[in-house]
Amino acid sequence: MEKVGEKQGEEDGAAPAGGGSELGQKSGTKRVPERGDDEEETPPTKKPVTDHSVKVASHYNKLQEVGLEVRSQSRIFYMRNFNNWVKSVLIGEMLERVRGAGSRNVSVLDLGCGKGGDLLKWRRGGINRLVCADIAAVSVEQCQSRYEDMKRKSYNNEKIFSAQFITADCSTEVLSEKLDDPQLMFDICSCQFVYHYSFESEQKADMMLRNACERLKPGGFFIGTTPDAYELVKRLEASDSLTFGNEIFKVSFQSKGSYPLFGCQYHFNLEGVVDVPEFLVYFPVLEHMAKRYNMRLVLKQRFSEFCEEKVKKEQHRNLMMKMMALELFPCEVGGRQASESTEEYSHAKERCCRAGLRQVGTLSRSEWEAASIYLVFVFQKMA
Ligand SMILES: C[S@@+](CC[C@H](N)C(=O)[O-])C[C@H]1O[C@@H](n2cnc3c(N)ncnc32)[C@H](O)[C@@H]1O
Repeated sequence: MEKVGEKQGEEDGAAPAGGGSELGQKSGTKRVPERGDDEEETPPTKKPVTDHSVKVASHYNKLQEVGLEVRSQSRIFYMRNFNNWVKSVLIGEMLERVRGAGSRNVSVLDLGCGKGGDLLKWRRGGINRLVCADIAAVSVEQCQSRYEDMKRKSYNNEKIFSAQFITADCSTEVLSEKLDDPQLMFDICSCQFVYHYSFESEQKADMMLRNACERLKPGGFFIGTTPDAYELVKRLEASDSLTFGNEIFKVSFQSKGSYPLFGCQYHFNLEGVVDVPEFLVYFPVLEHMAKRYNMRLVLKQRFSEFCEEKVKKEQHRNLMMKMMALELFPCEVGGRQASESTEEYSHAKERCCRAGLRQVGTLSRSEWEAASIYLVFVFQKMA
């Protein structure tokens, strides 16, 4: 686990030179903003001129839900399963911690719930109450009908959690005012692959954080997954253009060398599922802002580190198999790898040879390059 306060990237050379308030800023020594001096500290340049939330909502609203049959044909089938495994392990472990601390009536806020990709995880985790919120109205509708379906099809003696569904821009609207039960307090707020959309401005990032944390019980957790800004900047700086990526994803920046704390936009495109503007989340700033809500960072780990640690446990390995989070290489006779290029599996081939194994679980090189952009975080509300 990375120590709190330790700057990721310093170890692996990912942090560009500088040390000012911009990632890789070449000069200037702006400090990290304090509460109450938002205006003074908002970077004067690179102010967003468009409200990107509208674009983001319309993109996710248009995304079609496809069944397993179609999904399994996708070039990124295993990577999506791998991401889902990361979320499952994280959610499972946090629910265990919450229960271990004595919570019997578990309430969860799924911030940026999308089409309800995590509903089954909440069901498996046996929670009591779920609030789902997302900016994309169509996604929220689909999430709700998925939940109704799940309830309808459940066995008589299984008690499914109760749920509320809210369509809201969680980076500009106050969620607590929309709760059916105004007294509701959450054990966990889960924000999976969402928080980076709010880093368009300090005000938006702060509102998202407020929504995530203000109704957490003392000891409760704000958990999530988001791209690692250091990793993105490292790859950008290593590229001889303003873009980098491979056959499945592409990240395009507008400039490089200087990276404002907020509103540092890049365009992210991932194989038919994501095609939207996103913003760098400079983690030390998020950590600092979270203190306003009495939140302490307890875990920040790149997907690679998280995976390496979790696969040591048999239960997580079993879940990995069950969720098909890795692709078998070489595939069974008559089967097909996700990519036909042998170069995409040279690492797996090498491992088979080195360890004398017939088959290994892996991700194709391109999928791993995309998955390894992300990190897992956990904040805890102080008593
Ligand atoms: C990559 S999807 C992740 C969905 C879901 N959390 C998951 O892991 O399957 C990102 C989601 O964030 C939502 N989102 C983006 N900006 C938001 C905002 N300002 N308020 C609420 N939801 C937002 C999008 O509509 C989309 O559903």
